[in-house]
Amino acid sequence: MGYHETYASWQDDPEGFWLKAAEAIDWDVAPTQALFDRGDNLFEWFADARVNGCYNAVDRHVENGRGDQVAIIHDSPITDTKTKITYAEMQTRVAALAGAMAAQGVTKGDRVIIYMPMVPEALDAMLACARIGAVHSVVFGGFAANELAVRIDDCTPKAILAASCGLEPGRVVAYKPLLDGAIEMASHKPDVCLILQREQQTCDLVPGRDLDWHAAQEGVAPAECVPVEGNHPAYILYTSGTTGAPKGVVRHTAGHLIALNWTMKNIYDVNPGDVFWAASDVGWVVGHSYICYGPLIHGNTTVVFEGKPIGTPDAGTFWRIIEEHNVRSFFTAPTAIRAVKREDPKGEFITKYDLSGLRALYLAGERADPDTILWAQEKLGKPVYDHWWQTETGFTIAGNPAGLEALPVKIGSPTVAMPGYDVQILDEAGHPQKAGELGAIAIKLPLPPGTLPTLWNAEDRYKKSYLTTFPGYYETGDAGMMDDDGYLYIMARTDDVINVAGHRLSTGAMEEVLAGHPDVAECAVVGVSDALKGQMPLGMVCLSKGVNRPHEEIAAECAKRVRDQIGPVAAYKQTLVVDRLPKTRSGKILRATVVKIAESADFKLPATIDDPAILDEIKAALQTIGYAK
Ligand code: COA
Ligand code: AMP
Repeated sequence: MGYHETYASWQDDPEGFWLKAAEAIDWDVAPTQALFDRGDNLFEWFADARVNGCYNAVDRHVENGRGDQVAIIHDSPITDTKTKITYAEMQTRVAALAGAMAAQGVTKGDRVIIYMPMVPEALDAMLACARIGAVHSVVFGGFAANELAVRIDDCTPKAILAASCGLEPGRVVAYKPLLDGAIEMASHKPDVCLILQREQQTCDLVPGRDLDWHAAQEGVAPAECVPVEGNHPAYILYTSGTTGAPKGVVRHTAGHLIALNWTMKNIYDVNPGDVFWAASDVGWVVGHSYICYGPLIHGNTTVVFEGKPIGTPDAGTFWRIIEEHNVRSFFTAPTAIRAVKREDPKGEFITKYDLSGLRALYLAGERADPDTILWAQEKLGKPVYDHWWQTETGFTIAGNPAGLEALPVKIGSPTVAMPGYDVQILDEAGHPQKAGELGAIAIKLPLPPGTLPTLWNAEDRYKKSYLTTFPGYYETGDAGMMDDDGYLYIMARTDDVINVAGHRLSTGAMEEVLAGHPDVAECAVVGVSDALKGQMPLGMVCLSKGVNRPHEEIAAECAKRVRDQIGPVAAYKQTLVVDRLPKTRSGKILRATVVKIAESADFKLPATIDDPAILDEIKAALQTIGYAK
């Protein structure tokens, strides 16, 4: 069956479609029913089944003869090490770590925060949680202590699994002081922390709370896989929303196993045994779905990459890894390819490596600009597939189902809706738009298995954020259009979320930090186009009356505050001190207009603007820092 037949078969019988896909999973109790309608537009999938995620990702492959196959290749140009771990070795490692957690009293349903760099132990930690039914919440290493504290208080973990440090080019990131600071700040305290000591920088352990990762595993019985209900949360992953409080996206166990397994062949076109590589981080959804769970559930070899696209040591790293490990499908963010292209515009590094085993490059996480796609297509001589999805969905909403049928690529479009998703373009009143017309992108409910059923401890916020604007639909937060062939085009966010180097960030959260500066009376943060990172945050602050300090000093303090409170990943550098902010008569800051001015784009004067003259002031201010040319 090709794409159209497959999509039609899902439309004809959505539940039958997913029950069939469920046959690829090993169940303790097989599902008898796919969808559970919980009323009020809330849905769950496969709630009556029982299953274990770790068993499906590890143990079953050992039982089925893949024990000697490499499960994880850790390639770390930053430490100059390469390690291969087989499925059989994974089973031993994960069972031992799960045993250590169980010995510390962690049981099914307990939350466990994982704060780790790109080392195999990060995957061990995720899978060890899955093994005993604990609910993990991985926090990206580039977040500051304060962000970690917010997550500790929201998901109240019994245990935290962390490493002593992470490694960034030219800099060791000491995780332990961040962890200790976060626990100090948080009201909730974990019972125990398991700390992986890395030789690049070890740390002190807090007596009575911290245990050494390996010592904690000594003398404890390895843990068996605990079957959980299909709707048992596998994990919580926090993502940026409009406000400073991150949203805890919940992922149920059965749905994500089924959906991820389906995508490995149908979208990424890999067969069990093939090497699959997603160059992302376990702290992001791409890391959850396509560094850890997806490839392992499907019996692939996954590459855990600790490095950067450039500088570790050069712009040939991606291609070296693809050749050396015979990567068949490669997934990264457009920003990474832009970084490589900037460093090696002629693609000379590409010609140094044998990429004959590579079938295609997949891009996601932010808009894939045509220049980047065209460059990659030409230099690699391989298909380049953009695909669009979100933390909330956990897998592709729109993509090119190359394993089913490679559809023609239209540059600028992530291609078509995947089975499970009835994607519609709606106007403000919720009416479907015609082909080619811009609107909000919404998905008719129910969402497919593997997508978020709710937000952690925040069902009302879930409904308000996603379900109320367009009754009967999930609001994606993206705007765009669809052409006559059903190809989607993703144009912009409809909220205050920005995308910096493929990282999703909240301008609202940055505004909350700036507003806390004692000299700042009012502020706004917008995302402006950036040739490398897609977008960069730009802050505008109005100072309190009587503040007479040098503006550069205040700008530097603002940058430090965002770095200290949100983290280096926010890449917040620029602050403009202005006399006033452009607003509507009702007081709403005209952020979108500021972005247009900064980017020297055409814009319509907002009818409700309070004082149009202010736009000239803003333009002049933006020109002083190189924008609004
Ligand atoms: N732990 C600690 N700090 C981290 C970190 C981590 N895991 N990841 C990033 N940072 C820091 C960086 O060191 C940098 O700090 P600096 O301000 O001191 O230089 C800052 O956060 C910003 O990092 P980043 O956005 O990665 O920018 P960069 O300039 O270091 O690198 C790219 C630019 C394009 C090479 C890089 O962003 C990249 O590889 N992007 C791919 C994105 C990606 O995989 N996204 C996942 C979604 S698919
Ligand atoms: P995240 O939840 O971090 O994966 O970010 C999801 C958001 O990133 C989406 O809602 C989009 O705004 C953006 N995004 C992800 N992939 C794409 C893509 N292929 N094209 C355009 N935007 C994308």
